[in-house]
Amino acid sequence: MSQEARSPVHFLDVAVEAAREAGTIIAQAANRPKNISYKGEVDLVTETDHKSEAAILARLRHHFPAHAIVAEEGGASGPQAPSPYKWYVDPLDGTTNFAHGYPMFAVSIGLLENNEPLIGAVYNPVTCEMFTAIRNEGAYRDGARIRVSSVAKLSKSLLATGFPSHKRVQNPNIHYYWEFTLHSHGVRRAGSAALDLCSVACGQFEGFWEFGLKPWDTAAGMLLVREAGGMVTDFAGQLYHPGDAGMLASNGLVHAEMQALAANVAAQAPANVAGSPG
Ligand code: IPD
Ligand code: CA
Ligand code: CA
Repeated sequence: MSQEARSPVHFLDVAVEAAREAGTIIAQAANRPKNISYKGEVDLVTETDHKSEAAILARLRHHFPAHAIVAEEGGASGPQAPSPYKWYVDPLDGTTNFAHGYPMFAVSIGLLENNEPLIGAVYNPVTCEMFTAIRNEGAYRDGARIRVSSVAKLSKSLLATGFPSHKRVQNPNIHYYWEFTLHSHGVRRAGSAALDLCSVACGQFEGFWEFGLKPWDTAAGMLLVREAGGMVTDFAGQLYHPGDAGMLASNGLVHAEMQALAANVAAQAPANVAGSPG
């Protein structure tokens, strides 16, 4: 394989092309009737999720036949030989919003190298904003550098969270939602974890947390937050890895306060809601 073919810049260029193509598919379908089916009680999927995913996978497979790819709607697709490179693709993050015509959804494509995030691209087809990051090279929105906010107190922070559509009854998050709301300027629940993480990366939100996110939800966004100067851990303060049960992302300055508040909630909540479902 040539040097150029292994360069993170090349990986990102392909991810950006794929995210834009998928974003066009989503935008064209946004105001049309949706063909919705159910993966679970309230876990929706539309034909647009599948079309978007097919376009992204075709591009990634064409450029990187030796890489592993995990995509939300298609499952795993591996090369013959093991690869240090693994793509995580969420072809439409915010499907419930999309299905209802609420304009808050995105395409999220992240690449891990030896299980560490290397590149991330999140495209918002409503605003046409492209968020990108390469490890150690900063985070960008439409080519302009972005940074997390400088707000240092939780009481002056705007936060975000989400509620996965699986294992809803076991999810402890409503208890956290209540406490974080009382200790901040408020908590937004926009319905796209990828965009929530972009909002932390560009300083609109000071912090974000959620339980039970999947690697395709977070692989790109977590790198954006870190490269924008923020922190991404689990609830114990350990470095977050895609697929971990709980995620705490912040501008770094309010991280300790968020972690302490979360620990309090876990300590006070009844035993059946203190945990963090995967
Ligand atoms: C969902 C969104 C939502 C989050 C859920 C995710 P999907 O992804 O990111 O904000 O709260 O946990 O599953 O299903 O729309 O791709
Ligand atoms: Ca998702
Ligand atoms: Ca999705």
